[in-house]
Amino acid sequence: MAYRKVVTDEITLRKKSKPVKKFDEALIEFLEDLKETMHQSEGIGIAAPQVGILKRVAVIDFNGLFLELINPVITHMEGSCEDREGCLSVPNVRGIVKRPEKVTVEAFDRTGSKYTFSAEGYFARCICHEVDHLDGILFIDKMIREVTQEELDELKEKEKKKIGK
Ligand code: CO
Repeated sequence: MAYRKVVTDEITLRKKSKPVKKFDEALIEFLEDLKETMHQSEGIGIAAPQVGILKRVAVIDFNGLFLELINPVITHMEGSCEDREGCLSVPNVRGIVKRPEKVTVEAFDRTGSKYTFSAEGYFARCICHEVDHLDGILFIDKMIREVTQEELDELKEKEKKKIGK
């Protein structure tokens, strides 16, 4: 497992990624690197183009639920909701983005087996964000408005109070 540098240049980030065709040792190694990079960067998801590899691969770690998405396709979307987002490739920007409330996803695992699952809320949001990366789309393209650092601090304070800290 090795950390890979997270790219922030839009030339790479704006490119469309190509489907994975070979489910081999190199893919497994790459998935491990992505996971390591995501954890070291304290992200909840990362897509291959964010480390300069234009392949349709992403990993997500949502509250300890770890997921490898290879050639993911969102086959169904339902509802809509707005929430905060950020991105390892767009440092220092947080914003409100409208996303579906529920999604159904088809993807392949590292062995090349297809699987299908449904997700909702912030988990669905993460998946949409990562799948967008594979098409060169960034959350700032869909951002309704930016959230300032002041607002973020206020929200953090409120959350602290809510859980009685
Ligand atoms: Co991102």
